[in-house]
Amino acid sequence: MHDTSDAAVPADPALRSPHIEEAAARVGAAHGTEPSQGSPERMELYQRVFDYTPDGLLVVDAAGCIVRANTQAERLFGYGAEELAGVTVETLIPQRYRAGHVAHRRDYLAEPRMRPMGKDLELFGLRRDGSEFPVDIMLGPVEGGEHPKILCVVRDITERKQTERELTTLREKEVLLKEIHHRVKNNLAVISSLFYLQSTYTEDENTIRILRECRDRVRSMALVHERLYRSENFAAVDFGEYARDLSEQLVRNLGDPARPVALRTRLASVPMSIGLAVPCGLILNELITNALKHAFPSGAGDGTIEVSIQRESDGVCHLTVADTGVGVPENVGGEDAHSLGLRLIRTLTRQIDGEFELAPAHPGTAARLKVKVDA
Ligand SMILES: Nc1ncnc2c1ncn2[C@@H]1O[C@H](COP(=O)(O)OP(=O)(O)O)[C@@H](O)[C@H]1O
Ligand SMILES: [Mg+2]
Repeated sequence: MHDTSDAAVPADPALRSPHIEEAAARVGAAHGTEPSQGSPERMELYQRVFDYTPDGLLVVDAAGCIVRANTQAERLFGYGAEELAGVTVETLIPQRYRAGHVAHRRDYLAEPRMRPMGKDLELFGLRRDGSEFPVDIMLGPVEGGEHPKILCVVRDITERKQTERELTTLREKEVLLKEIHHRVKNNLAVISSLFYLQSTYTEDENTIRILRECRDRVRSMALVHERLYRSENFAAVDFGEYARDLSEQLVRNLGDPARPVALRTRLASVPMSIGLAVPCGLILNELITNALKHAFPSGAGDGTIEVSIQRESDGVCHLTVADTGVGVPENVGGEDAHSLGLRLIRTLTRQIDGEFELAPAHPGTAARLKVKVDA
């Protein structure tokens, strides 16, 4: 066997494989030299390629006996220096594949050419300690010498297999998440329909109104899941796009088609996690609903509702719903609000560590929410 520390190694004609030859030629070209065929220089180059290549190299004779192995091969299979020479190559293969391998080796020798071993099969190496590891193996005939030999290039693909497994798990999780958002959205749609069905069983205007508001709240949550389901990113929704969908949906459902209110939007793209998007969506739902419901009691005229979302560089997000309507009565809007909508807004604002204010806007009302965005 060779000595890896010795540069002036005796040339071994058995190593003149097309693979090594080509590599050696490339090394030579890179150095601007082209050692002549069979020269000591060239042989030294072969030796170096043999020793320094990151893959395990084994030269095997026709009887399956390992003639040479590089340090990487010894290390891969857990053997010490020189210990692989003379060992049959089947020693490095798990027991269950050994018989088959002897036959394959014979077939290969009948038609030797450079090719991967067991294409499309999972191959395993067997370490000295009995453990197995996945490998890719290239086979090539080694020319020269009296007897045919085979060069085996063995690559440990444990890490690649691990990465492939992790990717598969990740893809499966993504599919699962998508499925969950889809189901949550559908379940919320069922709840929303139940509210509607229930409302058809009463004539009482107030009950119908309450049920419709509940329905809108559920829908505003369903819309978050729908956005997450549709986007390829299951971690965050673009709250700007969400706000556009929600405001258009509410204007369509609650606005008076005979006296439509003009909706203006100024929506920056703000990615938000689901944990933040749901409460923010519910708050936005209350604010737009209020503007549509209370701001223009005698028709919108040329009144407008403006929904705006801005994001500062420090991640603070400003969400504003401003209308040009009649303005809030003096006794509402304080911290001690008793009506459900404003109470909901206060509770949700606390939950997301935000700040909320409802202020007169001459004309109309401006409701502002300030919150630090996480995503
Ligand atoms: N944009 C607005 N313009 C005028 N009045 C408003 C507006 N928003 C809220 N208000 C007033 O504040 C009150 C409380 O709102 P809210 O808590 O949402 O209860 P609700 O909408 O169920 O009446 C409303 O009844 C309304 O008088
Ligand atoms: Mg309200």
